Amino acid sequence: MYTVTLIPGDGIGPEITEAMVDVLSATGVKIEFEKVLAGESAVEKGETPLPALVLDSIRKNKVAIKGPLTTPVGFGFRSVNVALRQELNLYAGVRPAVSFPGSPTKYENIDLVMIRENTEGLYSGIEHFIDQDKTIGESIRVISRKGSERIVKFAFEYALSHNRKKVTCIHKANILKVTCGLFLQVAREIAKGYPQITFEDKIVDNMAMQLVKNPQEYDVLVTTNLFGDVLSDLCAGLIGGLGLAPSANIGEEIAVFEPVHGSAPKYAGQDKVNPCACILSGAMMLEHLGEKEAGKRIVKAVADVIKEGKTLTYDLGGTAKTSEITRAIIQKIIG
Ligand SMILES: NC(=O)c1ccc[n+]([C@@H]2O[C@H](COP(=O)([O-])OP(=O)(O)OC[C@H]3O[C@@H](n4cnc5c(N)ncnc54)[C@H](O)[C@@H]3O)[C@@H](O)[C@H]2O)c1
Repeated sequence: MYTVTLIPGDGIGPEITEAMVDVLSATGVKIEFEKVLAGESAVEKGETPLPALVLDSIRKNKVAIKGPLTTPVGFGFRSVNVALRQELNLYAGVRPAVSFPGSPTKYENIDLVMIRENTEGLYSGIEHFIDQDKTIGESIRVISRKGSERIVKFAFEYALSHNRKKVTCIHKANILKVTCGLFLQVAREIAKGYPQITFEDKIVDNMAMQLVKNPQEYDVLVTTNLFGDVLSDLCAGLIGGLGLAPSANIGEEIAVFEPVHGSAPKYAGQDKVNPCACILSGAMMLEHLGEKEAGKRIVKAVADVIKEGKTLTYDLGGTAKTSEITRAIIQKIIG
């Protein structure tokens, strides 16, 4: 029996995490979910957006899975997602983008994974106005040698353990010569220790174009926080949308799994959105727990349902409800 912290999340979070719990339970792996509230849902109950008991629960259990959390845009409390990653030192954002035949996209045979530095860069949380009238703002981009070394090493180790052949470092070192310059220099140094893995680097704007033109040429991508955030949504678009993009946030001891997408508030409570990104995040969690076979069964069940094309949510071109596609996935698992 595993104990895992569960943050249902805001907006569509409760519906998709419920679907994920049902699918994981269908595999027979015994998990006790310790449910805690964060974000808007915690604020509505008179708590802070990131209550101490949430961090305590995750630190105790070492593994958590969460729905998306709403962050007010341009005002209000700081992103709880960013705070969680920084507080728990979850430095590696792992975001696979894998083609599911039958999903609505022009691309086939995509199998890449974005490794995003999760704790520093432009999301370091150092920003302020520099004049009294608040007409000039600045956000400070912090890139450290230590932070760069550990994420690039993580990317190469991930490549080795997942039988991948190439690591591409994404940067803007032509303009941001200090911060991206340091990141690229560190990546080149680390790459020398992994001669069996091909290494290359790409400037971020060119990379955005290359990913749209020739996504099949890429394998493991490693980059800084903001570039990774933006490009991982682009990668989700390549495989048919955010409804199919799972992720993991990994630290030295703790791992938190979540879909890449946000809380899609306009669809909250409608039994309408695609739960697959959250379900696939659950499959990544099972793999992390050592339950590889159960994780694979979930991925295959999702792939089979999408290929069949009979029970698809609106974003995949169908009319099925969240609960219907969840039942179809469970049916594939239990046979
Ligand atoms: N990790 C997180 O918790 C996280 C990540 C991104 C955004 N957010 C937050 O989510 C809120 C909404 O942000 P946004 O609108 O930019 O992004 P979003 O990901 O919620 O939505 C983007 C688009 O994708 C669609 N979409 C998202 N998930 C879907 C799903 N499972 N099935 C079908 N369609 C889906 C939405 O309807 C919308 O059209 C904001 O408060 C933002 O801060 C949270």
